[in-house]
Amino acid sequence: MVMISPSGARAVARCIELGRAPYSDMAEGLYRGYLMPAHRAALERTGDWMRSAGMTTRVDAAVNLIGRYEGTIGGPPLIIASHIDSVRDAGFYDGPLGITLGIECVATLAAQGRRMPFPIEVIAFGDEEGSRFPAAMLTSKALAGLLTDLPEMVGQDGKTLAQALHEFGTTPEALKDAKHPGALAYLEAHIEQGPLLEAEGLALGVVTGIAAQLRYEAVVRGVAGHAGTCSMPLRRDALSGVAEMMGAIERIARDDGSDLVATVGRLEALPGAANVIPGEVRFTIDVRSGDEARRDRAAEKILSVIKSVAEDRKLQLEVKKVHDLPASPSSPILMDLLEDALVEAGHPSRRLVSGAGHDAMNMAPLAPTAMLFIRCRGGVSHNPAEHVEPVDGDAALNVMLRFIEKLGETCV
Ligand code: HGY
Ligand code: MN
Ligand code: MN
Repeated sequence: MVMISPSGARAVARCIELGRAPYSDMAEGLYRGYLMPAHRAALERTGDWMRSAGMTTRVDAAVNLIGRYEGTIGGPPLIIASHIDSVRDAGFYDGPLGITLGIECVATLAAQGRRMPFPIEVIAFGDEEGSRFPAAMLTSKALAGLLTDLPEMVGQDGKTLAQALHEFGTTPEALKDAKHPGALAYLEAHIEQGPLLEAEGLALGVVTGIAAQLRYEAVVRGVAGHAGTCSMPLRRDALSGVAEMMGAIERIARDDGSDLVATVGRLEALPGAANVIPGEVRFTIDVRSGDEARRDRAAEKILSVIKSVAEDRKLQLEVKKVHDLPASPSSPILMDLLEDALVEAGHPSRRLVSGAGHDAMNMAPLAPTAMLFIRCRGGVSHNPAEHVEPVDGDAALNVMLRFIEKLGETCV
């Protein structure tokens, strides 16, 4: 069923289209890594949608796709954005929905033959998840001029960031210079990725702020050995050591009894043979809380406990911080505008914090930010079962359009 007129349902349908070949680098399921072939294909398709909505398009030096719809007066634009990359085995909506809804906002204005006083830019950030290279949010940091030192990075596929950028006709140096001149405001629509809105029977909510997050990469080294001949007292089993560390990490987060969360999301035991005692384990640690001091206290406890486990077990431990994002409050003025738009559209007002990170966290140097959360079934995300009802897409578009009108009224 081809939907011609602009609608939130079409924004939802387009996310489903982007969830399949050629917009995935996985044979079965969705994975769209930064600068991978699927990223290029998705930029082309999304660029088509932007142009058919009446926008001009360009790709910046960080490989962000930027669609632009001029205003009647000009000046700094309203940016409506989210990310087009995904985690591995992802759902269809985490990221793309904020882009396709932005396109529908412009398509609606264009269909009415209208322009706002300010330009509108819809941006598809290339790397929010950090699912190919170790650091995340590279391209929104580049847009905000936050990429001061860019360490050499090797992707999970073995290619360096420089090689991957070169394939897209750009370089690490150029990426550092991809700074945007500044915006009037930043709006990101995103699935909640949590169960709260659904549990309260709400379609939409206004985000008050985004939790602070720290991410580490750790390597634990012991001694690889024969699983059959090496007696237990003589072992220096890296994986058993990390298992003890993981238990301690979980206990620290659970015992805090707050919004604190800690996760070991990726783990690789080497050499990975059933009859070899693992000599080396590489794993990640992700720590978050809406309260930065709480996050930092927990991180300190975690680092000290994994150090003492390594010492007790005569293992070597190396830990590197790869990601440090402070908590990011939304703009009170834009939150009020968004809440007025929500209530005017007939929704109860609901404000909530985001445990998930978003590109909005990097936008402070460019503009005040606001985020609109959209209900997703069971709060499931980072999972192919992620689901958004088309009617909630329509509700989100309606509120975003009212927000844009209200922002326009503040410009006169
Ligand atoms: O990790 C996050 O919170 C986001 O999905 N990148
Ligand atoms: Mn996301
Ligand atoms: Mn995500």
